[in-house]
Amino acid sequence: MSAALSVEGLVKTYPGTRKTPAVEAVRGVSFEVAPGEFFGLLGPNGAGKSTTLGCITTLVRPTAGRVAVDGIDVVRRPREAKRRIAVVPQTRNLDRDVTVREVLTFHAAYFGLPRAERESRADRLLAEMQLTEKAAAKPLSLSGGLQQRLLIARALMHDPKVLLLDEPTIGLDPQARRMLWETLRRLHEGGLTLIMTTHYMEEADRLCQRLAIIDHGKILQLDTPAALKKALPGGRILDLWVRSAAPVGPRLEALPGVLRLEKVTTEGRDDSFERLRLFVDPKDGLLDRVLQAVQAGEADLQHVSLTQPSLEDVYIHLTGKELRE
Ligand SMILES: Nc1ncnc2c1ncn2[C@@H]1O[C@H](COP(=O)(O)OP(=O)(O)OP(=O)(O)O)[C@@H](O)[C@H]1O
Ligand SMILES: [Mg+2]
Repeated sequence: MSAALSVEGLVKTYPGTRKTPAVEAVRGVSFEVAPGEFFGLLGPNGAGKSTTLGCITTLVRPTAGRVAVDGIDVVRRPREAKRRIAVVPQTRNLDRDVTVREVLTFHAAYFGLPRAERESRADRLLAEMQLTEKAAAKPLSLSGGLQQRLLIARALMHDPKVLLLDEPTIGLDPQARRMLWETLRRLHEGGLTLIMTTHYMEEADRLCQRLAIIDHGKILQLDTPAALKKALPGGRILDLWVRSAAPVGPRLEALPGVLRLEKVTTEGRDDSFERLRLFVDPKDGLLDRVLQAVQAGEADLQHVSLTQPSLEDVYIHLTGKELRE
């Protein structure tokens, strides 16, 4: 059985102009998504997530590499590829002059579905996305969460095999975000292949079966959320914010139970505390030893926390920076 999606050595360089240099947005990305899988692309602003999706949906022409959907090359056979994919774009592109229902039926007409099928699919998807009551409303009168569900319904009108969602929960309040998660879970359970980009770690962790962490146009790591977290040394993370005349890092690094020390940088931070992250194996008296070392270094301690690693920590470990929202 062929992969639902296969991306091989994808490169996209946006050409420069006289005033702006060329941008290497995607620099050799490869991954495969199995039929029925829920796959995530996780990365900060400008990482190349939307460009990668653009290459998959034929909106962006790759500079090099190959993308195939269900075995169909998207550059060579774009029409056939497009029938099999659907996209919920990062910027909501809803028409203001039509009704919610027409958003669905017009999309289906564009894909050549016969009238009876357009109407019956619209009914079904309106019900499935809990939009039946809003059928006659104008799309832009809906809340952000409902607009997003409408975009998903629209995307599904031509019965695609793969649904791509570009930052689907951005700008939604926590409740609407949770509802959307439920919707996506339901679609996944129904057998649809889903590919989502996000920069919300928690969302990626909860929803995606596997994910690729991407930064500067490259995949840094690709695995299940559990495996990504498990690959961090030590099993626990001890964060310390310290300020001292002489660096305390070397003292801490030498302690038994401390497997690794990393400095975390946060852009735009203006305090003078150094943020140290220790990957630790927290057994017998580790915390005491750490605090003693800090005291011995005459360091000023502002914050201490011992936590289970999250995907955010994996990201920090890979890039040395925090993923800011
Ligand atoms: N049409 C374009 N022309 C030139 N440069 C572009 C174009 N689209 C994107 N870029 C640049 O390519 C890089 C990757 O952008 P892309 O939109 O793929 O990132 P992203 O991961 O989706 O980011 P975000 O989280 O902000 O949506 C960025 O540096 C961006 O400025
Ligand atoms: Mg984007």
